[in-house]
Amino acid sequence: KKVANQMLVIFGASGDLTARKLVPALYNLYKGEHLPENFVVLGTSRSDMTDEEFRKKVVAESSFLQSQLKEQSEDFVKKFTEKLFYQDLGKRYTDSYDKLANRIAYLNEEFGTEENYIFYLSTPPSLYETIAKNLCEEGLTKEDRGWKRIIVEKPFGYDLASAKALNEGLHHYFEESQVYRIDHYLGKETVQNLLVTRFSNSIFEPLWNRNYIHHVEITNAETVGVEKRGGYYDKSGALRDMFQSHLLQIVSLLVMEPPINSNAEEIRDEKVKALKSLRIMKDEDDILENTLRGQYVESTVSGKKVKGYRQEDGVDPDSTTETYAAVRFFVDNWRWKGVPFYVRTAKRMPTKVTEAVIHFKTPHHQVFSSQDVYRQDNKLIIRIQPDEGILIKFGVKVPGLGFHVEQANMDFYYSDLDSAQVMDAYERLLLDAMQGDSTLYARADEVEAAWEFVDPILKCWKESDKVTTYGYAAGTWGPKNSDELIEEKFGWRNPGD
Ligand code: BG6
Repeated sequence: KKVANQMLVIFGASGDLTARKLVPALYNLYKGEHLPENFVVLGTSRSDMTDEEFRKKVVAESSFLQSQLKEQSEDFVKKFTEKLFYQDLGKRYTDSYDKLANRIAYLNEEFGTEENYIFYLSTPPSLYETIAKNLCEEGLTKEDRGWKRIIVEKPFGYDLASAKALNEGLHHYFEESQVYRIDHYLGKETVQNLLVTRFSNSIFEPLWNRNYIHHVEITNAETVGVEKRGGYYDKSGALRDMFQSHLLQIVSLLVMEPPINSNAEEIRDEKVKALKSLRIMKDEDDILENTLRGQYVESTVSGKKVKGYRQEDGVDPDSTTETYAAVRFFVDNWRWKGVPFYVRTAKRMPTKVTEAVIHFKTPHHQVFSSQDVYRQDNKLIIRIQPDEGILIKFGVKVPGLGFHVEQANMDFYYSDLDSAQVMDAYERLLLDAMQGDSTLYARADEVEAAWEFVDPILKCWKESDKVTTYGYAAGTWGPKNSDELIEEKFGWRNPGD
């Protein structure tokens, strides 16, 4: 698909996302010849910088761009960075938009970007509405000449009420079709492949329901702690940071009904229906029984001392914010009635992995003896990252006398495909927005449906004195009682153990 000439305006451009993710993604698009002929990036933030200082800063802060200076030659990288410009927004995000508008008009004229603008908001959400309003007042949202789009980063809201308010605020100035809510998990190949696995194979979909699936398990584990984001994270916690967005996106793709085609609206309609069918927990007892929160404590990991969460910079020393969250829930619809879903996410785990496991039921009648019937159930393991791929576990006869059954693996690795290299999530998502394809962006009703499910849990965790934040040693699989949440005979699948 041809990409129209356009300008990308990044708000919060002096922040870490621009140098770490956005500019490297744009560089790769440039290298892959995906950018249109006329294309410029205008960074803006409160910092005072010249164009040249901005270019130097993003290169200096990106180890990837640094490596490209050697791999591709300085000239090549320079040609790319010449597409980057910078305009400061004064001391606040509330004024100086006239200067910004003038600069946009000037660059548009100079570089022929045809008044096609994407505004990328990499700022705290509290600024989204202010920025949108100011853009509107400067006449920068009107689509009479060229299209206008706005991309907003997560977190999209702090709870249901604030997400609704944010949507309402943005909708004053932009149509929903102009709003692109980013969830970088949707940019991951393996997450998109959930749709293909389910809807392009006749061997999975007929089994994809309560008749054959015993339970579904999703694990998202990171080895890192909160790094330099203690201040943000302490107000957020794992449930907001990962579960409400990335993990519920994965859930919606696993749960949804087949869309009638692959258009953005059709797919997103089905995802919304899926999210709306999650059974909302109704009271404190329900939440105490079905959720678990934990927080990592100081420990020694691979011979190195690792700080506890409460000792991290920017974190309240008495914080009860969770770095581990596990939730068991049910999906109240025809397909999924009665099938438990177990989803957990945490920092400071033994390994970095994200996977979804579909546990199939054991056959109704056991013909062969087996030591441990429940360990022998068929599993479809979708490895989202790393080692992207799909693993099927199935029973085979142990060679020799009798009919003893053992599990064997059928394993597919993405890395075995020799087709084109996998695009980074931000690359894919930016290119989609540049082409006006919002399939991999979250729609307003989708985000709200996800908050609707999460809201009562957050509320209870905050208000109830019966909720405990359990400690777990950094580098372990979570609180000691985490297996109590999942049916005993299975326990969690800890990849790599
Ligand atoms: C971000 C969260 O959205 O996703 C981070 O804010 C988390 O806390 C990150 O580390 C994980 O992303 P990935 O792609 O490394 O799994």
